[in-house]
Amino acid sequence: MKALVTGGAGFIGSHLVDRLLAEGNSVDVVDNFSTGSLSNLSQARIDYPHQVRIADIDIRSEEFPLHIARAKPEVIFHMAAQADVRVSIERPVFDAGINILGTVNLLEGARIAKVRKIVYAASGGTLYGDVANEKLPISESEPQRPLSQYGVSKKVALDYFGAYKALYGIEFSALALANVYGPRQDPHGEAGVVAIFAGNLIKKTPCIIFGDGSQTRDFVFVDDVVDAFSKAATRGDGEVINIGTGVETSVNQLYEAICKVCNVTTPASYQPARQGELERSCLNPRKAKKYLNWKSWTAIGDGVSQVVNHLASSK
Ligand SMILES: NC(=O)c1ccc[n+]([C@@H]2O[C@H](COP(=O)([O-])OP(=O)(O)OC[C@H]3O[C@@H](n4cnc5c(N)ncnc54)[C@H](O)[C@@H]3O)[C@@H](O)[C@H]2O)c1
Repeated sequence: MKALVTGGAGFIGSHLVDRLLAEGNSVDVVDNFSTGSLSNLSQARIDYPHQVRIADIDIRSEEFPLHIARAKPEVIFHMAAQADVRVSIERPVFDAGINILGTVNLLEGARIAKVRKIVYAASGGTLYGDVANEKLPISESEPQRPLSQYGVSKKVALDYFGAYKALYGIEFSALALANVYGPRQDPHGEAGVVAIFAGNLIKKTPCIIFGDGSQTRDFVFVDDVVDAFSKAATRGDGEVINIGTGVETSVNQLYEAICKVCNVTTPASYQPARQGELERSCLNPRKAKKYLNWKSWTAIGDGVSQVVNHLASSK
């Protein structure tokens, strides 16, 4: 398959590029390197010099649809985004420019190039907003009520995919990701807490937990996530599908797991909870099993030990 990955130099995108290349696909990467980096693709470039092409292009630019038309991919994996909730609150116009207008620009390129399918990285952590505890883990049937500008800009893209499917027959799957963690992760992303704790504990620097640490998240390992993207190239057409573990892990449990891997016993220091943070978050992965035959498999202890090893070796 000929694939194009936007945001392919980023955290999740670069793991997806590695996976697609290992499966024998040829891959065009589009990235403006605003948060991604060429070093995330260094192994891919060594192992697959003829199968991977990297273009420094902004998805908002006029050049981008022309680039898609030239590359003629069969499937586009759309990972490029302004992915920081706090930035979206401070700079909502900037956020919408990338996440909404950049996506429309991509769809125009896909229309011209007659792309068969787009697989989109939606945000399961923000799509549903504040959901009552008895509704956890959250199913896709839950109303979509995002509570941040980032959540809204990522959600709006879903309606555009529906419209382009209806108008031009471009297929899509939107994978609503839980809190993705793993090597190459930026501490500012949605599951940045894993990278922050691991980075601090390796350096024996104390960690801060906001609130009492009982707040929960659904931490899903990046290798498991890119497996879902690979499967969605040929399955799950027209669907929004949660990609999570279905298991809640509290921030305290996460901290203990990372301490264990780093072999330290330093207690965390606690500060008042940050405003607007969800108390509990967890996605129901049942639909992913049905439509993609996907299920996460990496236990949190194994995943965090890979993050710690990666950070320790890249110091
Ligand atoms: N990390 C998570 O836990 C998580 C959870 C839910 C959804 N997502 C989504 O997954 C995708 C990837 O997230 P990530 O964590 O790998 O973030 P990331 O910041 O590492 O990756 C985003 C990539 O997009 C590139 N990019 C940003 N703006 C661009 C532009 N205007 N033009 C071209 N490239 C641009 C960046 O340089 C970067 O390489 C995003 O769409 C994000 O919204 C991530």
